[in-house]
Amino acid sequence: MSAKVFYITTPIYYPSDNLHIGHAYTTVAADCLARYKRMKGYDVFFLTGSDEHGQKIERKAREKGMEPQAYVDKIVAGFKHLWEKLHISYNDFIRTTEPRHQAAVQALFQKLYDQGDIYKSTYEGWYCTPCETFWLERQLVDGNCPDCGRPVELLKEESYFFRLSKYQDRLLQYIEEHPEFIQPVSRRNEMINFIKGGLEDLCVSRTTFKWGVPVPFDSGHVVYVWFDALINYISALGWHEGDPRFEHYWPHAHHLVGKDIVRFHTVIWPIILMAAGLPLPSQVFGHGWLLLEGGKMSKSFGNVVDPLVLIERYGVDAVRYYLLRELPYGGDGYYSEESLVERINNDLANDLGNLISRTFGMLEKYWGGVLPEPGVSEAVDSDLVNVVRETKKELERQLERFDFSGALAAIWRLVHRANRYVDETTPWNLVRDPAGKPRLATVLYNLSEVVRILTIWCTPFMPVFPGKVWEQLGIQDQQELHTWESTENWGQLPPGLRVKRGPGLFPRVQREKVLEVAGNQAAGTQAETPASSHLAPEKVPALKPQISIDDFAKIDLRVALVKKAEKVKGADRLLQLEVDLGGEERTVVAGIAQFYKPEEIIGKKVVLIANLSPAKIRGITSQGMILAAVGEGETGVLTVDKDLPAGTPVR
Ligand code: MSP
Repeated sequence: MSAKVFYITTPIYYPSDNLHIGHAYTTVAADCLARYKRMKGYDVFFLTGSDEHGQKIERKAREKGMEPQAYVDKIVAGFKHLWEKLHISYNDFIRTTEPRHQAAVQALFQKLYDQGDIYKSTYEGWYCTPCETFWLERQLVDGNCPDCGRPVELLKEESYFFRLSKYQDRLLQYIEEHPEFIQPVSRRNEMINFIKGGLEDLCVSRTTFKWGVPVPFDSGHVVYVWFDALINYISALGWHEGDPRFEHYWPHAHHLVGKDIVRFHTVIWPIILMAAGLPLPSQVFGHGWLLLEGGKMSKSFGNVVDPLVLIERYGVDAVRYYLLRELPYGGDGYYSEESLVERINNDLANDLGNLISRTFGMLEKYWGGVLPEPGVSEAVDSDLVNVVRETKKELERQLERFDFSGALAAIWRLVHRANRYVDETTPWNLVRDPAGKPRLATVLYNLSEVVRILTIWCTPFMPVFPGKVWEQLGIQDQQELHTWESTENWGQLPPGLRVKRGPGLFPRVQREKVLEVAGNQAAGTQAETPASSHLAPEKVPALKPQISIDDFAKIDLRVALVKKAEKVKGADRLLQLEVDLGGEERTVVAGIAQFYKPEEIIGKKVVLIANLSPAKIRGITSQGMILAAVGEGETGVLTVDKDLPAGTPVR
């Protein structure tokens, strides 16, 4: 068996509804690992799929007046569409309604029954249908599900039970002897405590509905949906058919799951495997949740964010980058469209995008678009190369422990170092002096090589933009220059390449375009935005040249209370305002008469440029200017959305 084998799985998602950005996180994270390991030369098998049985799905389908199979077929088509849009490179997609899976579930159920680990009794207790979980009375919180807080239902039915309790000590011993089995450590500790609290035998069949895998020897029962679902990880490898892929991949299995389902994967699943005499997966990694400010994202709370809308609006690389950057290692992260736009503008447009475009731009402008042979070296070059070397180590260390955010932070330290290298070496000065040319050649070469290396390292996270960089660098057909291995040694780019700067890879997003997309949107549809909420792209004025924070600090903006307003005689566009600036009154002339009657503006707290040189307008000295958004046919003055006193600075 080859040592370089990696089997990575996502949970199989319930097709009770379309997926949201939280589900997308797990799958994007798994995809990032699969891509990374492939680049490292591993034989990778990446599995995802859908968990299609159970009471929840059956009810949902009936509510929609559909047969469960027709209902899940439709939703699962949406899953696949989303994964395609997110560039998810799965090797197999398993559906629990497929015969290959059902046969495995029945074989395993039968085996455990035959050996006495499954027995018949009566279940009397509580059930949370949204979580598909059995609960004891004492586990409920205020009579509700302790996991999701929703109401539970009382069940009393004849059921088959699985002897979890019999394996409790063996499981505990296994977890204690294999520290890497449950990660991160905090989840491992939680599970150890949970198991020490005592395991009850688990109810593994239901009789009160039909939508499940029939128990092979008792047709009145269907297999409990979690018992059914967990088996997907081996049915997809053809375990029950003696498929050699099972032997090959299974010992290298890594289950990436959300923290809410760690318990199923580290208690029920290993005990099923132990009882069946099968090896346990090598690791279960429980990641945190992507939350909204108000709490958890959930269809039933009506606050989900549709990833398709975000991909459409910001591009797939940006969405993937954001997800992987925003969730801290093992912990929860908060989603907001504003923080997404901030990441795009800062990390992608300003840092990475700018580094790439200034590198290729300088190559075109200062060296005719041909990659030079390096000339004179200086100490700063070895520093840059050292940072590259250190970054590789750190990046790999973080990816091996599934710390996506830590891995990206490591890459970005190099992005910052490279941008600083440009400022330190000042190519724009070197080009002016013929004696600076040999030095300039080195600087341009080094920057191009850093761009190449960074692009390779970003590929598992953002798989789309690298193709564009290869084209601009003129190495789209030179695969050997795109490999992970090629980042081991500095200086792989062959001088003489024809480099062509293309359009910006990560365009900045104008903040005014940001709209919240939370809401109930069906997968595959775009958020409905009112016709007036966006300017047509051709109508958006070009941005002015960038200014520094110091430039901005020169402008003194203040809250000003409008005390008086009247029309300026003979000028139908102008209003003369008397404003209170907190201890000082000013006269200001504003071109808003077509949009505000005097009485409409009186009493408003507006924003005034307080240190603008006075100007004479129609014979009146205007001592400042009030700010307004000026559109075609409509103008709105800026006001402050809280009651702050006149004179308060605005910045
Ligand atoms: N069908 C079961 C899994 C069976 S695996 C053998 C299930 N499905 S699910 O669709 O409800 O959830 C799938 C995964 O999505 C879980 O890992 C869950 O933690 C994850 N997420 C759901 N909402 C999430 C966030 N808001 N943030 C991050 N992950 C989230 O459970």
